[in-house]
Amino acid sequence: MSKLSIIILAAGAGTRMKSNLPKVLHKISGKEMLYYSIKEAKKLSDDIHIVLFNQHDLVKASMEKYFDGISFHIQDFLNLPGTGGAVMGITPKYDRVLVLNGDMPLIEAQELGKLNFASKDIPIVMTVLELQNADGYGRVIIENSNVKKIVEQKDCNEDEIKVNSANAGIYCFDKEFLLSHLPLLSNTNAQKEYYITDLVEMAINKGLIVVPVSVNEENFKGVNSKFDLSQAEVIHQNRIKKAFMANGITMRLPDTIYIEEDVEIEGDSVLENGVTLLGKTKIISSHIKTNSIVESSIIKNSDIGPMARIRPDSRVESSHIGNFVEVKKSNLFEVKAGHLSYLGDSEIDSGTNVGAGTITCNYDGVNKYKTKIGKNVFIGSDTQLVAPLEIPDNVMIAAGSTVTKNPKSGDLVLSRTPQKSLAGFFDKFFGKKGN
Ligand code: UD1
Ligand code: MG
Repeated sequence: MSKLSIIILAAGAGTRMKSNLPKVLHKISGKEMLYYSIKEAKKLSDDIHIVLFNQHDLVKASMEKYFDGISFHIQDFLNLPGTGGAVMGITPKYDRVLVLNGDMPLIEAQELGKLNFASKDIPIVMTVLELQNADGYGRVIIENSNVKKIVEQKDCNEDEIKVNSANAGIYCFDKEFLLSHLPLLSNTNAQKEYYITDLVEMAINKGLIVVPVSVNEENFKGVNSKFDLSQAEVIHQNRIKKAFMANGITMRLPDTIYIEEDVEIEGDSVLENGVTLLGKTKIISSHIKTNSIVESSIIKNSDIGPMARIRPDSRVESSHIGNFVEVKKSNLFEVKAGHLSYLGDSEIDSGTNVGAGTITCNYDGVNKYKTKIGKNVFIGSDTQLVAPLEIPDNVMIAAGSTVTKNPKSGDLVLSRTPQKSLAGFFDKFFGKKGN
């Protein structure tokens, strides 16, 4: 198959998003829309060009975090606005040029590859969506199985507006045709823009053929509004979850589960309803219960929740984390923390039991400090561990203690004030009640 150059259009302001953030930086499943276009493009080509204008520094910097070897171009937006203007001035390396819109986060390389047959006689191969309602899209007028022209919605006449064949916005061009005809585009249309879509009519007028390739909306959905964004995310989430389920992951009510792009799940893991997995999280043979959140952490052979929160940089292995437990930047191995605790900046070793209400006081208002807890430590309920602190193996901490000094192995630590009981106080205070 002939090599492809790829141009991704991402200069538009995205006014319909009603946001200060450039359209292509809005996220689905935790990553910017443009990230997905580039990720798929990279599978097909080593010559990728991104066209930017609005907040180009921000968009470029966001993408350079993920990818290198990409050419960024700044469109002469003021003089040459429009999807045609965007492509002007770019010199692709290969004979075929795939042009795609940056607002299509659901495209997949395998589908794009199907367009890779443009030639001198078929200078344009383009994607067409057959929709119930093509509102918002350019309409594709097809005659005898070939494309005749594309009319933008704002330029449609009464008959054209009723056409349900929509331009998905992805084209494979013969490079020579593209470069020789771009300078001939004009902006005599409703939006006063240079439309890439006008190249179709030019090809037809020369007796050449423009081939429509029918594609489905699941892959080629364009995102123009916040509603479109939410719908694209639903489709993307379904893809992520389906792939995990195919690998043996159990999901209860998957529609209520949210999993970001970089998450990995392995082994015989179970995700209950309402689970949220964010960032670079890895779940290995674990059970994540209802409404728990795990962010950029590793969970192995453990059960978490319901309603637990594991914050970034934690590693929880062979442990039980119960309800209302928050863990942050901590390393837990064979630990039980069943209820209502905050374990931050800590290391806790095997056989240790963390009683309900235990809190690592890791922050003094200026700095954060570590709490290190050894093996077989029994931490009584409602204990405050004031960091920096090191509890060695085999220590028992009495309920209600505030621990500020490192104990020795074998100690019982007890810091609460002794109990006082005043006989008959109740009746004195409230008066005699009942019998
Ligand atoms: C475009 C197509 C329309 C198609 C639709 C599919 C044209 C003229 N129209 O319309 O036929 O049905 O996509 O989604 O091409 N962009 C630039 N520079 C510009 C203008 C746009 O880079 O000057 C980029 C945008 O950032 C965006 C993409 O091109 O990623 C498409 O622009 P958009 O304004 O969304 O075009 P549509 O009106 O949707
Ligand atoms: Mg669009």
